[in-house]
Amino acid sequence: MVPVSDCDAMIDSASTTDPAVAVLIAWFSDQGADFPWRQSRDRYAVLVAEVQLQSTQVARVVPYFERWMARWPTVDTLANAPLAEVLSAWQGLGYPRRARNLHRAAQMICTEGWPPADRLTDLPGVGPYTAAALRCFADEEPVLPIDVNVARVLARRFPDGWPGTPDGDGWTIGQALMDVGREWCTQRAPRCGSGCPLRDGCVAAESGHPELLAPTRRRQSAFAGSMRQRRGVLMRAMTSDGSVPIVQDIDAAVSLVADGLAREDGDLLRLPVD
Ligand code: ADE
Repeated sequence: MVPVSDCDAMIDSASTTDPAVAVLIAWFSDQGADFPWRQSRDRYAVLVAEVQLQSTQVARVVPYFERWMARWPTVDTLANAPLAEVLSAWQGLGYPRRARNLHRAAQMICTEGWPPADRLTDLPGVGPYTAAALRCFADEEPVLPIDVNVARVLARRFPDGWPGTPDGDGWTIGQALMDVGREWCTQRAPRCGSGCPLRDGCVAAESGHPELLAPTRRRQSAFAGSMRQRRGVLMRAMTSDGSVPIVQDIDAAVSLVADGLAREDGDLLRLPVD
């Protein structure tokens, strides 16, 4: 068994299938969510989805993902797109640095090819979690990507360690744990009594207070009045009007230029050329 620690990925194959894992696999084939990115094993599609899903809820991501893939269906179409168009298409998802990194990653993949599996984190914007997600959801390796939701499920239901991934089921288990963490094993009010597929044998549920067993989440600082909000105001104005006067918010303008998300054009701020 692998101890469940605060890791980003875990590789652990099992020759026998733990009963709780068998139930999870059967449950997913019957009731797993049918998101558009789950139709594909293409690394580029998985990368787009995972980057969009970082810090953004699934329901919000679905239409963005579909529009994105219709517009830039392959890594080279994205690599050749103007950065300003990429940033405009991202408008509304937040954290636009993700779009710039995705664009840079596409350009890197186009010129150098995909890095080997153990070097996926060389790509801009790809950390250990996203690298594990690419290996699990695109390459179908028995790697478990552990985001905050999955970490919570593992801590509550498998406190002694993950019992092992049966051969060929890595993809299903990775996706299933995401669904359980999002819909049932939620941070504050876990829905233990309403059909959680991992309810049987769940010590946390039996304790009566599963919510007390949750890895701590970093508190997000207030959005109103934050630099993130101010940058968002300028990004929206550039996307809809083409430019915005720099004096409207000089500090936010400087920070966007420093991040390569905008350029100065006289007194105006515009989306970058590339
Ligand atoms: N969050 C991150 N990756 C996900 C996935 N593949 N499905 C649903 N939610 C996710």
